[in-house]
Formats: sequence, C-alpha cells, structure tokens
Amino acid sequence: MRMPQGLVIGGTGMLAGTVRGFSARGWDLVVPSRRRPRFATDGENVRWVRGEWDFPAELAAAVAREATAPFGLLVAWVHTPHRDGVLKAVQPLLAPDAPVIEVWSSASQDPLATLPPAVLDHPTHRVVLGYQRSGRSARWLTTTEISEGVLAAALAALAGAPPAVREVGVLRPWPPGR
Ligand SMILES: NC(=O)c1ccc[n+]([C@@H]2O[C@H](COP(=O)([O-])OP(=O)(O)OC[C@H]3O[C@@H](n4cnc5c(N)ncnc54)[C@H](OP(=O)(O)O)[C@@H]3O)[C@@H](O)[C@H]2O)c1
Repeated sequence: MRMPQGLVIGGTGMLAGTVRGFSARGWDLVVPSRRRPRFATDGENVRWVRGEWDFPAELAAAVAREATAPFGLLVAWVHTPHRDGVLKAVQPLLAPDAPVIEVWSSASQDPLATLPPAVLDHPTHRVVLGYQRSGRSARWLTTTEISEGVLAAALAALAGAPPAVREVGVLRPWPPGR
C-alpha cells in the first residue's frame, strides 16, 4: 500500500519533531531546505531535497522529483518575503483538497495582529506561536512545544477540522512579560 505523502517546508529545524511525528504515523515526507538534516537519513520515509526559498521554481522542481502522487498535506514555515513565492510554486504539487498548515511567529511584533491572509486556495490552518508563562516571567516556546503544536494542528486538519487559527502557547498579553 502506498503511504500518504506530505510536504514540509522549513521542516528541518524546529519542526523536525513534526516531521518525525508524521513519519511515525506512516507518512512519507519530502522536506526541502538548504542543508541536509541528520534526521533525514534515519528513515527512508523522510526524503530531504536541496531547496532555497530564493529560488522557488527550482525548489518546487526538486520536490516534484520526489513526489509519488499529489501531496496530501503541506506544512510550511516560510519567512516573509519568500512566503508567497514558495507557496505558489509548490501549489501545483498538492492534491486539490490537501490542507495547508502555515506556521506564523514574530518576536518583534504581535503575531496575531500581523497574521497574513492565506496564500493558496486550499483549506488553510494557521498556527500562531506565542510564549509560555513561567512564574512571573515569560519564555519562548521550546522546539518540542512548537513541533507538537504544529503536529496537532495538522492532524486535526487531516481529520476534517475546519480551517482555523490555532494558538500555541500564550498570545495575550503581547508583548510577553508586559
Ligand atoms: N514563539 C516562539 O516561542 C518561538 C520560539 C523559537 C523561535 N521562534 C521564531 O521562529 C523563527 C524561526 O527560527 P529559525 O529560522 O531559527 O527556525 P528553524 O526551524 O531552526 O529553521 C528554519 C527552517 O527553514 C529552513 N530555511 C531557512 N531559511 C531557508 C532558505 N532561505 N531556504 C530554504 N530553507 C530555509 C531551515 O533549513 P536550512 O537552514 O537547512 O535551509 C529550517 O528547515 C524565528 O523568527 C524565531 O524568532 C519563535
């Protein structure tokens, strides 16, 4: 039986746990980035390809070479100003009903207030990263908290949850520690 295939852009850093979570659930992942991550060699169902956001068409072509079918899921954490170009370049590789999970974060501005609209005409779920309160102070989310929050949002999207803005951690008050 062919495994479902997902595309995770920006998936080799703080989203590595999300990639591993999908891999453990039987998904075949394609993960483009500039540098080969160590985890991509761990399992055959995580395929890394070289891709740079500055060159979206080349990135999409590299991803397409690894695609066995239209992708059933896109998870993307692409920084501005590359976001539109990269997402539009990979859109033709997605199944028509594939959910898009976009991750959004900003340390300098209020992430909820600066959340951009969806780029693609797909059911788009936005995951907005906040912070955690720790006693009287605040701290940023850990890599595990981020990965798990994005994984939960993606699994909910695949289970048919309607597109939504999902907050990971605390977003109010902003800025943290105010
Ligand atoms: N709210 C919170 O609690 C919280 C916590 C931590 C971080 N953050 C924020 O999260 C943001 C992300 O941090 P980060 O960049 O260090 O994340 P990261 O997850 O470590 O790396 C970003 C991912 O994108 C890829 N990437 C980056 N630039 C690329 C490019 N030009 N072309 C192709 N792929 C590229 C990286 O792979 P390659 O490098 O191999 O290309 C990696 O897969 C930061 O703005 C940080 O402030 C927020």
